[in-house]
Amino acid sequence: MKGLILSGGRGTRLRPLTYTGAKQLVPVANKPVLFYAIEDLVDAGVLDIGIVISPETGDQVKAAVGDGARFGARVDYIPQDEPRGIAHGIKISQEYIRDDKFVLFLGDNFIRDGIVKQVAAFRDNAMNAQIILYKMDDPSSMGVAVLDGEGGVTQLVEKPKQFISPYAVIGIYMFDHHVFEAVNSIKPSARGELEITDTIQRLIDQKLTVRAHLIQGAWIDTGKVVDILEANRLVLDVLESKNEGQVDSDSRLEGRVVLEKGAVVVNSTIRGPAIIGERTRIENAFVGPYTSIYYDCTIQNCEIEHSVVLENSKISHLSKRVADSLIGRNAEIARADGRTQTLRLVIGDYSKVGI
Ligand code: G1P
Repeated sequence: MKGLILSGGRGTRLRPLTYTGAKQLVPVANKPVLFYAIEDLVDAGVLDIGIVISPETGDQVKAAVGDGARFGARVDYIPQDEPRGIAHGIKISQEYIRDDKFVLFLGDNFIRDGIVKQVAAFRDNAMNAQIILYKMDDPSSMGVAVLDGEGGVTQLVEKPKQFISPYAVIGIYMFDHHVFEAVNSIKPSARGELEITDTIQRLIDQKLTVRAHLIQGAWIDTGKVVDILEANRLVLDVLESKNEGQVDSDSRLEGRVVLEKGAVVVNSTIRGPAIIGERTRIENAFVGPYTSIYYDCTIQNCEIEHSVVLENSKISHLSKRVADSLIGRNAEIARADGRTQTLRLVIGDYSKVGI
């Protein structure tokens, strides 16, 4: 079996971060969300992985993942000129997949318990496609599946306006070669995309076997800030303490804390679960639960909790605690000098500031 990860798209809901970076490389507990997808595939025994990349962020993805050797995988890249839908990603990958069965994994989807069981079921049983479902009160922003009561799927609708079923289709799918006939037959939808739901509906209409696997564990589409914070909480919740950095005698580490190589903590308290990245310096500061600070950051004379900070950023000298925040790369937040009520801001397009 092969793997196919889609890592293109515009990431509009994560602006401004996605103006300069791929949404799939936003870190969850100091690891790009895309890496969890690769690891899930490798854990399930899927070692040949094609990654569909976009012209805007493809080079960053390639630089981060490389040839896959560090994951124990063989990674190839498949360029997509524009985001034209999930099914278009399959279409352009036919030469790579050939006649193999494959797992399609949307690179911004995060599934807590991995996909070992589902991949084994697809490998061992006679079916043409398998989809993974997650029960939701309101699945109207997703593809939604109607079931036959025996694990079979009778209908799929993309973002239904009226409630038809509570079963949302998550971004992990398994197919055999029949899917290529389907993606080559369907037409673009009203939003101009080749839809994965139309593709699977075509398989059902052709009387092929499409089975569903309902998951109980957590699943998150990390497209929005709150979703990144939630995925971050899930991973930090099972974090084990590790200290590869330095902590001075005036500092306290409480609960489960990871200090990555070269992290330095001076006169500060870190209350886990939290992770502090390589070469990051925490000084005269408080870092509260559910916080991930990535590499080469400085957190100085301030307090921060329940937040994700990307690489090379500096937060210093604040009189208010930073919370529930996602701070991008190379960002600086500091008290403005001058009159007390001054806010001095250089904020990118689509930024959000809560004061
Ligand atoms: C896409 C699919 C949808 C699926 C979802 C999973 O939605 O079209 O069927 O449920 O991914 O994340 P989109 O992210 O394009 O809105």
